[in-house]
Amino acid sequence: MKTRQRAYLEAIGIETFAPRGRPQDPAVAEPPPAVTSSVQSAVASDAPVGSLDWDALRARVAACTLCELHKTRTQTVFGVGNQNSDWLVIGEAPGADEDRQGEPFVGRAGQLLNSMLRAIGLPRESVYIANILKCRPPGNRDPKPEESACCTPYLHRQIALLKPKVILVVGRIAAQKLLDTDAPLARLRGQVHRYGPLATPLVVTYHPAYLLRSPGEKRKAWVDLKFALGVLQGGAA
Ligand code: URA
Repeated sequence: MKTRQRAYLEAIGIETFAPRGRPQDPAVAEPPPAVTSSVQSAVASDAPVGSLDWDALRARVAACTLCELHKTRTQTVFGVGNQNSDWLVIGEAPGADEDRQGEPFVGRAGQLLNSMLRAIGLPRESVYIANILKCRPPGNRDPKPEESACCTPYLHRQIALLKPKVILVVGRIAAQKLLDTDAPLARLRGQVHRYGPLATPLVVTYHPAYLLRSPGEKRKAWVDLKFALGVLQGGAA
């Protein structure tokens, strides 16, 4: 078994996992948000979301009251990671841990996602991670269509600013929403979809929370990750 494959299987709990201890590169870590007067004016102004830079977009999201979810959130969960990454990972919505910490995928599912990414040579800090919804739906219920509609422009602006070479979508709900389909996840895996005005390659895999409940599917997720890597490297698109 190849080292990378063994690392992945071990990392996700199929065998004993020994962390590789890859040092974090401070050069790729996202800087703390700066509060500048241009950010404050961007929040106050009605400048279109599509015109905002990273800081102004973050501030706009933090102040968002477009849907009911702002009433129950602890804080918004904007996104995290390397703003120059080739990779964008998109999940559904923050859960309780993410709502508390203000960062996507920090709970148990996030730990598994980190291990999955690390196994294909991607430390968490090297990718960008975001959700469709920036606020937690109460009780972790599925996003309502009107909530997704309010939040999707923020994700679209993140994609436009990031210009990823590949988008990895985790989970059925996120995949169905982004691809505007009812197709089951099994049918959405294993192919290269195209997303947005730049027709960015998009690959679908299982949600790590689902993999925690159904560990027998972890090997399929490994196949998906290798597929996405191949897309990025020009082999599968
Ligand atoms: N599930 C998601 O889809 N996103 C998170 O940030 C956490 C759990």
